Amino acid sequence: MHNFSFQNPTRIVFGKDQLQQISKLIPPGSKVLLTYGGGSIKQNGVYQQVVQALDGFDWQEFSGIEPNPSFETLMRAADLVRREKIDFLLPVGGGSVIDGTKFVAAAAVFDGDAWDILAKGAKVKAALPLGCVLTLPATGTESNGNSVVTRYETQQKLSFSSPLVYPQFAILDPTVTFSLPPKQVANGVVDAFVHVIEQYLTYPVNAPLQDRFAEGILHTLIEEGPKALSQPDDYDVRANVMWAATMALNGLIGQGVPQDWATHMIGHEITALYGLDHAQTLAIVLPALLQQQRQGKRAKLLQFGQRVWQLQHQDEERLIDDAISHIRAFFEQMGVPTRLADYGIKADAVDKLVAALTSNGMLKLGEHGDITPEVSRQILQRAL
Ligand code: NZQ
Ligand code: ZN
Repeated sequence: MHNFSFQNPTRIVFGKDQLQQISKLIPPGSKVLLTYGGGSIKQNGVYQQVVQALDGFDWQEFSGIEPNPSFETLMRAADLVRREKIDFLLPVGGGSVIDGTKFVAAAAVFDGDAWDILAKGAKVKAALPLGCVLTLPATGTESNGNSVVTRYETQQKLSFSSPLVYPQFAILDPTVTFSLPPKQVANGVVDAFVHVIEQYLTYPVNAPLQDRFAEGILHTLIEEGPKALSQPDDYDVRANVMWAATMALNGLIGQGVPQDWATHMIGHEITALYGLDHAQTLAIVLPALLQQQRQGKRAKLLQFGQRVWQLQHQDEERLIDDAISHIRAFFEQMGVPTRLADYGIKADAVDKLVAALTSNGMLKLGEHGDITPEVSRQILQRAL
């Protein structure tokens, strides 16, 4: 196992009727900015509950943070924060609203051009505190220090990480997920599944506990994900999916082990150029990437096939093929197609995606740094 130093400072408040806890979790006397997206929180009653909990605080709101939040919109929010001397941010929504608000937290107090945080990896030396209400289990952003932002003007989807933008608290009430459209439920399950794979399906470093954690989350998503679609009113199913998605990317399972993340980096370019949902891009790239990288990932692919899918063939090549086919079938079962062609994207996209990867510096991806743009090209060709 590799050395590591791990701290996750986010307080998780989980369960029914927990939105009211906001009033105790925000520091008294704070000047709060409630941020949200396109209005789903007004339709499902979450907004009204949050407003009730904010009674007694000096607060304002900023709405319209888009799925795949835009740099342009977020800079308007950062201006508002500075102008109104906001000192606590409260994103209420999915990954986009929370990620976007993390960027606002850093950008509002950044000395210089805030785009450098994303484009040049400029160090985030300060950020406003935030606490969040999660409405879409998927990204893990509710208890991690990551944020992904898209600059629409240049079609660049870039990320940054900082310990300063971990939410101080995250309210996870599974009942708020009942209003999700099936497509978003499925996206969330696929995203969380791929988060685990990025941290697990690499090469062995004798870290059996991390492996078992990862396999436990995968089993849970495989069992509960389809039920979230077929029994949409089942609270326990929603709760299990929600907790699994948080655990998939709150840092725990990735400690001391190699990590991949190439599926995500290639997927981000597909979203930036063609507008696909984040999880759709992962469902396309992952099976193709695993085929392409099967030698380097061989030991873990065998373990994954045996332990997660209970495959028992003697023939190892067949076992690996079946393990990858099971992933594809699971994504398809969730209703997320796994080929570029399924989304109307044709072979001419490959050159454009490889050029975007190259210009964004994605030159040595994967746990071995061996996914060059040329290897990304082969992965994308396999994904057509
Ligand atoms: O905008 P509103 O009206 O709220 O509607 C949203 C949006 O249209 C809707 N929605 C959310 N909760 C709902 C709901 N509709 C009904 N009922 C509810 N309870 O769902 C739509 C999609 O929301 P979005 O936030 O975009 O989805 P998701 O949570 O999948 O977030 C995706 C973003 O997160 C980034 C992605 O790249 C993408 O930009 N990621 C962030 C990560 C992180 N910070 O660690 C890791 C991930 O790998 C990912 O890259
Ligand atoms: Zn993801």
